Amino acid sequence: MISDYDIPDVVPAGSMAERDQPVLGLPGGLELRPWRSGDADADALLTAGQDPAIQLWNLFSVRSRDEARARIERMHERWRSETGAVWAIARPGGPPLGLAGLHDVNLAGGTAEIMYWVLPDSRGGGIVVEAARRLSRWALDDLGLHRLRLCHAVANPASCRVAEKLGYAFEGTMRSSLLHADGWHDEHLHALVVERA
Ligand SMILES: CC(C)(COP(=O)(O)OP(=O)(O)OC[C@H]1O[C@@H](n2cnc3c(N)ncnc32)[C@H](O)[C@@H]1OP(=O)(O)O)[C@@H](O)C(=O)NCCC(=O)NCCS
Repeated sequence: MISDYDIPDVVPAGSMAERDQPVLGLPGGLELRPWRSGDADADALLTAGQDPAIQLWNLFSVRSRDEARARIERMHERWRSETGAVWAIARPGGPPLGLAGLHDVNLAGGTAEIMYWVLPDSRGGGIVVEAARRLSRWALDDLGLHRLRLCHAVANPASCRVAEKLGYAFEGTMRSSLLHADGWHDEHLHALVVERA
């Protein structure tokens, strides 16, 4: 027999849209802050969108400053529509060094997927781990999501190491799960889940 019952939303609608996207402090004088509409952020996004590794592994490409500006506007729209939350990793007052964010946000279901990249000149210093750790804590502790997933191509071991350092448990391999520019890739699925009593 099919019973009729309601499952309450894990996170109430409005929990993002009814407040400003916060600035989140990071160790080492860095912060996560919303992307801005000015030239510096558009140029950083354009640089990212032309980097071969970010194009390949993040499936992200940008061809012009105007396109970069439009993408930053879409980030703001996604916050307002509660479908995504994207931050720049930066020094206060400085240009973006990288990106950390959530996409496929499902407040009612309590889930989202974490994503990140770092511009080539800022790689190798561990900033993405600090940024993604802070973002994960915000998403689970402050926003109230239940589960964050992290997916990366098996052929991208740096991202796998980031997932391990963050404590996202390995859950398995999704076979031929995402079409990249060089063909279909298997992906690892990792996740961080709130252990509630
Ligand atoms: C993946 C990425 C975000 C990692 O950022 P980073 O600044 O290069 O990484 P870090 O310096 O913080 O290193 C993180 C860990 O990965 C390890 N690592 C880096 N490159 C590696 C590689 N090619 N193979 C295995 N491990 C690697 C580092 O040694 C470090 O682990 P450790 O602290 O145990 O030594 C960055 O390289 C990047 O933006 N790459 C291009 C786009 C991309 O891959 N995005 C992710 C899509 S899922």
